[in-house]
Amino acid sequence: MIPPVAGAGIAAGAPASAGAGSAPAGLPATVAADGLAPAAGLGPPAAAAAESRRPARASDRAPQAARIAVLGASGYAGQEFARLALAHPGLQLAALCSREQAGRPACELLPGVDPRVDPLPPVLDPEALEERLAAGAFDTLVCCLPHGAWKQLAAERPALADGPARVVDLSSDFRDGRVPAAGGWDYVYGLPEAFRLEIPAATRVANPGCYPTAAALALLPAAEWIAGPVMVSALSGVSGAGRAPQLRTSFVELDGGAALYRAGTEHAHVPEMERTLARLAGRPVPVGFAPQLAPMARGILLTATAPLARPVSPGEARDAYLARYEGEPFVRVLAAGTWPETRAVRSSNRCDVAVTTLHGGTTLLAAAALDNLVKGAAGQAVQNLNLMLGWPEEWGLPTHGTPW
Ligand SMILES: NC(=O)c1ccc[n+]([C@@H]2O[C@H](COP(=O)([O-])OP(=O)(O)OC[C@H]3O[C@@H](n4cnc5c(N)ncnc54)[C@H](OP(=O)(O)O)[C@@H]3O)[C@@H](O)[C@H]2O)c1
Repeated sequence: MIPPVAGAGIAAGAPASAGAGSAPAGLPATVAADGLAPAAGLGPPAAAAAESRRPARASDRAPQAARIAVLGASGYAGQEFARLALAHPGLQLAALCSREQAGRPACELLPGVDPRVDPLPPVLDPEALEERLAAGAFDTLVCCLPHGAWKQLAAERPALADGPARVVDLSSDFRDGRVPAAGGWDYVYGLPEAFRLEIPAATRVANPGCYPTAAALALLPAAEWIAGPVMVSALSGVSGAGRAPQLRTSFVELDGGAALYRAGTEHAHVPEMERTLARLAGRPVPVGFAPQLAPMARGILLTATAPLARPVSPGEARDAYLARYEGEPFVRVLAAGTWPETRAVRSSNRCDVAVTTLHGGTTLLAAAALDNLVKGAAGQAVQNLNLMLGWPEEWGLPTHGTPW
């Protein structure tokens, strides 16, 4: 079940959690929640058919649209965020920031975007972005910078950290969330399925990592049964390593094989997984992690095993997962005997999970698949923004994957 959204500033008349196809308050009736008008014949008269095929433009959007600047817009996560924002009924791209690409047309930065559909924002360097903030051009900052870079930029340019009404940071800089971050800001850990009620009141959100999101969703319903160390093993697509060229992620090094890296407790995501599991279980849960690079562009396929405090049958485990995730728009519990695959969730904000138990019910085996760039990064950032803005959580987010 999705708990009710506390303190949400939902536009008058908008449902607390509308279905994916419902139009939000403030939008013309012909504009659906995916930002596209309904198909001809389903709603508007024939005379309006041409108009109905036109995707939503900024002028169609909700009057309370959030105006977004994207830091690191030339990277994989930044580009995916921009793609999702352009199709979102309430998010308006106001600026893209890149040090290397500043001044170039945005359509060169975003090769998948058709510039005829929406007016694209300028591509600015961080200094010009700060000036645009001072001029009131945007109210929401989405940081898609490598780890450490946002913390450093926030210290160098405090106006960028303090000025926006909302900041969502996709790096790990503020995911520990306990100590108020630079400028006195407290970042809330934005994993809606686990900590949804904390997000609507937040103005600063630390978006979880891709592996930790998959691990948390694979284990969340079982957290209280876990009696010892959790072993997590995961395949990742290469976009998870970012866009900067590296020998390890070049085609020749990857093609035709898969490779373990930083196995054990070395990977930076281990403490994040342990923090989340400790919050869910109410006690420390040690994690061992075996991440693997797979020759695919995107996707995470994760399995987790753990000893259980009491015997749990496979049916009981699956029923608990079904009950915990009932009504969750972006988590699907697969049928018994069916296991997640990356292609089914590719380009979607969905995480598929499956669970069983072994050894007389004393060992948990859970699995999850998600798209590292969507539910593992940009899609989850949109989900968090929807909650922060009091909008339906599913707004503008794809539930269906593109397997081929
Ligand atoms: N990729 C994923 O699957 C994924 C999943 C979850 C979370 N994340 C997190 O999201 C963030 C972005 O990841 P990504 O994969 O999109 O990385 P990326 O492809 O390497 O892109 C990062 C962008 O940030 C800019 N940048 C680099 N260093 C900078 C600095 N010191 N100051 C300002 N800008 C800088 C670069 O653009 P310019 O050089 O043009 O400025 C670059 O295009 C990372 O923290 C990552 O851990 C990524």
